[in-house]
Amino acid sequence: MQKEKVLSGIRPTGFVHLGNYFGAIRNWVNMQDEYDCYFCVVDWHSLTTHPDTRELQTSVHRLLSELLASGLDPDKCVLYIQSDVPEIAELYFYLNTMAYKGELEKTATFKDKVRQQPNNVNAALLTYPVLQAADILIHRAVNVPVGKDQEQHVEMTRNFADRFNHRYGDVFPLPKAFNYGSKLIKIISLDGGGKMSKSENQMNTLYLADDNDQIRTKLMKAKSDIVPAEKNAQKSEAVQNLFTLMSLVSGKEVTEKFESDFNNCIIRYGDMKKQLGEDMVRFMSPIRERAVAIQQDKAYLSKVIKQGKEKARASASETLLLVRKAMGVNY
Ligand code: TRP
Repeated sequence: MQKEKVLSGIRPTGFVHLGNYFGAIRNWVNMQDEYDCYFCVVDWHSLTTHPDTRELQTSVHRLLSELLASGLDPDKCVLYIQSDVPEIAELYFYLNTMAYKGELEKTATFKDKVRQQPNNVNAALLTYPVLQAADILIHRAVNVPVGKDQEQHVEMTRNFADRFNHRYGDVFPLPKAFNYGSKLIKIISLDGGGKMSKSENQMNTLYLADDNDQIRTKLMKAKSDIVPAEKNAQKSEAVQNLFTLMSLVSGKEVTEKFESDFNNCIIRYGDMKKQLGEDMVRFMSPIRERAVAIQQDKAYLSKVIKQGKEKARASASETLLLVRKAMGVNY
């Protein structure tokens, strides 16, 4: 039986953090055997908000290295760079002919960006969801692992695909937002406010590139709470986040010990954060070391980039043939 296709994209902006790792990348790694996976470094998308391209090459190389170090295997999945696949740009154009200004202006992410960068409301920012639709539809992927904030874009992709199919004939399966495994893990900022993000205060975010001392220091400074006065109390968001992190990197017994201390009102947050720091270092340092080694191995990186490009273009050009044929753009 043919495996279902999975596609996701990640922007090469800023450093990869634990929210990206536990929320997305680790799932991608686990999907590689079960699905026909396409993972794309979306450099074009990053240009809608980061017009300065001087850091682009370094960012793309670092991101690829971090993805490989996390366990993506270029022989199991198609790992490629968006701008290596010009077929995406062609499909983006066709899809733009069936995307309406009104719906693009209503998109939540667009409205956010207009607020954040009022002096750079460029046309590519408006059509960002159309480019994302092209990323997905170019491989006729059906499963799109994304966080909550991206669900609207997947919904729009379904609409564009559906419109195309109605107008020109069935070419695209309708994709859906996809959640691998049972629960979606959300890592919040170490100050307890909102999700861990690329843009916020660096002290509140753990990056895959952080060295051991930074990891320890950030965790020691993480927000906790007062020791609960009553047994089995409700945890604050910040404390819950520490427990979530602990359950991801510490042993079960360790986590259970601190759970029980919390429930019995004898928890020492300092001890907990110290333990978490050590376990986090043990978890993260091998990934960081592998990433650094890969980033220095330019020959290996170019081999991976070339291999991804070839596989992605082979799949993309098959779709474009169908698209052009359906549309009558073939002479
Ligand atoms: N817009 C996504 C984000 O900001 C990145 C992205 C681009 C993407 N193309 C995609 C995600 C295709 C899933 C599928 O995170």
